[in-house]
Amino acid sequence: MLSRRALEDMKPLDHANLENVLSALHKAVGCAAPASDPGQPGASAPATEAERKGVDHLLQDLHEELHLVLVEHGGMAEELLRAYEQLGIVFEVTRQVARVSSEKEVVRLFGNSLRITYHDNEIRLAERSGDDLSWSPSPPPARESVVEVVEESIAGSRLVVRTLPSTTDGVDEIMSAPVFSGEDFVCAIVFTHGPAGRRFVASDMSLVEALLSFCGDLVRKCRLTEELRGMSMNLVRALVSAIDQKDAYTSGHSNRVGQFAKLLGAALGMDNEELQMLEWAALLHDAGKIGIRDDVLKKPGKLTTEELEHIREHPVRSHELVRRVPQLKASMDGIRHHHERYDGSGYPDGLAGEDIPLQARVILVADVFDALTTSRSYRAAFDVETALDIMRQEAGRVSDPALVSLFEEIIRREIAHQRISFERFSCQSTSPGRDTSERNNTPEECTK
Ligand SMILES: [Fe+2]
Repeated sequence: MLSRRALEDMKPLDHANLENVLSALHKAVGCAAPASDPGQPGASAPATEAERKGVDHLLQDLHEELHLVLVEHGGMAEELLRAYEQLGIVFEVTRQVARVSSEKEVVRLFGNSLRITYHDNEIRLAERSGDDLSWSPSPPPARESVVEVVEESIAGSRLVVRTLPSTTDGVDEIMSAPVFSGEDFVCAIVFTHGPAGRRFVASDMSLVEALLSFCGDLVRKCRLTEELRGMSMNLVRALVSAIDQKDAYTSGHSNRVGQFAKLLGAALGMDNEELQMLEWAALLHDAGKIGIRDDVLKKPGKLTTEELEHIREHPVRSHELVRRVPQLKASMDGIRHHHERYDGSGYPDGLAGEDIPLQARVILVADVFDALTTSRSYRAAFDVETALDIMRQEAGRVSDPALVSLFEEIIRREIAHQRISFERFSCQSTSPGRDTSERNNTPEECTK
């Protein structure tokens, strides 16, 4: 495809060229000045006066026709340039649209793409903030009439272009294009330029309207997806909480593991989709406990070998439950392997080190931390420092040491910023609590 530079370098025919063409044409039809030696071989016979006038008349008509073509050609070149630039926005948006997953990302993508093409304009985003508009970049426009045009475009749900009286603020023309998600106003993209700027034409309006209508559709899709995601998360949380409540001591455990795992996943640089799958896995990691006998699950004392074997079935039971939902395929590894130990002594498959899927290693760290900091049927909760200390000591044997170290940083940061609190736990004890003689308190034991 031609670049803009190449298009600009294309020289259209000008009038000087046209005169040369006409002169050559005159000569070709023998209507130029009479030949100096008509008797010379090859010289044309002079045309009669009437013939010369007739041809001159025809050439004059041709001149005028060509002039019209030249004017039209100039307009077409400008239109071609503009169409080329506009096509560029469509390509850019199409190329990037698959990567956006949130409403803010959608609006940012369209805003940035328009900024590239309309680089000689000032482009700002106006969002509703109570009865007023909030502007990005701020501050709000100095001139009230700019705001009035934007409000008019929002009220009418349509693009509005206005020429404003010249002032010193450098705004000569404004185009305000509102974005709606169904009936809901999302934002307005506001273009302004000064007296030297290129005026907005019909093709600008058509393009911006079409693009922002597409933007509104995508925002609507994001909102529906988010709504659906929220509904499904709430449904799963409700189901998981029913499972957690089989054992009063583990109530809320899966939700907390989900939150801790997401913090760790985000710190590892997981993208939104990976975080979503991690959260599903963390929420559902103990779903298989629904099939574990209550007398085993709630037993305060030491488990027999048979009971231990029974409770250790739960990761595979969770995996079996989840594999019936194809959409959760990417969460299955985390669920099945959340009791594998870093040294290979875990279950169900005895995986070790980085052979354990990352999702499962992350869930194990979150699972151990929550188990240590909450009271269990066989011991009281540890305080945060003791829990982190135990995890550090067991790193490399139970959990991935790099993840334990990163998790400790995250927990300290979250506590420092008061984003998590441990007051909810019933017992803040530095002692192992009751029944320690019957169960040991290694991190892995805590997450049975
Ligand atoms: Fe578990």
